[in-house]
Amino acid sequence: MALFAPLFIFFFFLSVLLSTGLSSPLPGKEVWDYVEVRPGAHMFWWLYYPDNPSAQYQDLPLVMWLQGGPGGSGSGFGNFEEIGPLNRDLEPRKTSWVQAASVLFVDNPVGTGFSYAERPDGFATNVSTVASDMLVLLKHFFTRIPEFQSIPFYIFSESYGGKMAAAISLELSKAVAEGSVKCNFAGVALGDSWISPLDSVMTWGPYLYATSLLDDNGLADVNSAAQKVKQAVEQQQFLQATELWSVTETVVEQNTNGVNFYNILTPEPDEKFTSTAGENFISLQAHRHIRPLHKQSLNELMNGPIRKKLAIIPQNVTWGGQAEEVFTKMAGDFMRPVVDIVDQLLTTGVNVTVYNGQLDLIVDTLGQELWLKKLKWEGLPSFTQLRWTPLDDPASPGITGAFYKTYKNFAFYWILKAGHMIPSDQGPMALQMLKMITQQD
Ligand SMILES: *[C@@H]1O[C@H](CO)[C@@H](O)[C@H](O)[C@H]1NC(C)=O
Ligand SMILES: *[C@@H]1O[C@H](CO)[C@@H](O)[C@H](O)[C@H]1NC(C)=O
Ligand SMILES: *[C@@H]1O[C@H](CO)[C@@H](O)[C@H](O)[C@H]1NC(C)=O
Repeated sequence: MALFAPLFIFFFFLSVLLSTGLSSPLPGKEVWDYVEVRPGAHMFWWLYYPDNPSAQYQDLPLVMWLQGGPGGSGSGFGNFEEIGPLNRDLEPRKTSWVQAASVLFVDNPVGTGFSYAERPDGFATNVSTVASDMLVLLKHFFTRIPEFQSIPFYIFSESYGGKMAAAISLELSKAVAEGSVKCNFAGVALGDSWISPLDSVMTWGPYLYATSLLDDNGLADVNSAAQKVKQAVEQQQFLQATELWSVTETVVEQNTNGVNFYNILTPEPDEKFTSTAGENFISLQAHRHIRPLHKQSLNELMNGPIRKKLAIIPQNVTWGGQAEEVFTKMAGDFMRPVVDIVDQLLTTGVNVTVYNGQLDLIVDTLGQELWLKKLKWEGLPSFTQLRWTPLDDPASPGITGAFYKTYKNFAFYWILKAGHMIPSDQGPMALQMLKMITQQD
């Protein structure tokens, strides 16, 4: 791999050189590589230049996409199921974000997707390590491709990716201020994000009850399971809280005839979840939450044609092969909130957007509203007083697709008819939101 990298850099710069005089690289240009962020800990990144006939890459922002899990792969799921130029069948995606940005997928934490740890101690166990690893990667990236240092850089995220994005953004804003990373950091967007896990769990019952997915008995069961999670979190027993969270999910499944946590109106995708007898709760959870991001068809694509095309994946590294281990290593950190980090971002002046899908259960909008109200940010009272603005669904003019509200450096988007994976559920609306956040609309 170390042998391949210089060759690859050579061809990359050769093509940039050849296109001097032309205004930008050819459409559809891509570049990818590994960075060793700690000894034996390798992170994979994959950059797509924009594919837009009327704009050059210099005129469009750079967006880094972070997937959830932890253990879900941006280069796989985010790329081929949500926002990349091609879908899982390698057909062009009409609502790809490469129309409006250069898009950088990073498989993080280490062990996710094509990223890998050579040793068991290579995995991160908390978001501080996740953030410091990403800072190493970003420093490398902006040194390697310095054209991007002045281009507005945004971090977009989904689910657990949002928790990581918040921590990374705080470290990045410090590093930029100190000059240790050269980039034009313009903001962070937290999509259906695991910012305050307890607020999500505590609102599952009320949300499901309001949408006819629980009766009074079911509501009582779900609430009582959630109360146990609350006690564990209050006592700072975070590993136990993760186990009890898992129990609560089982109670939800039993009472709702197996509602889909990622979109309450959509049947469980592909393979219905079944636990293996004797599985402990942490590995059960790893299994339950990693599997939807590693559908068989995506697995075959990533470990087949994609790995062949990339040509730098070490032979003994399988896409997704360490994903459940990533999750279990982070289990003690999983239920910790990062509301204080969002507060620090707002106080520091970083542009923060929260966006959430109406039909998401696992990170329901009710829970987001709850942690939002806990912010100490001085702009909160003014934000709260403002009325929201409806947005038409670009795919169905005249029909409301979202509401949004913004005050100073904070914005909130309520995305209608979308579950947890907003770009795959409401592609045109997600693309419009991207343009609004990155000030192209
Ligand atoms: C792959 O094999 C190499 C050489 O045998 C070893 O050093 C490395 O730890 C292995 N990597 C993984 C992810 O198993
Ligand atoms: C995060 O994990 C690393 C490595 O295990 C450890 O050194 C560090 O103290 C942890 N940080 C926090 C804030 O827990
Ligand atoms: C933050 O967003 C505001 C618009 O809401 C914009 O005027 C400002 O330039 C943005 N800040 C950065 C650092 O991009």
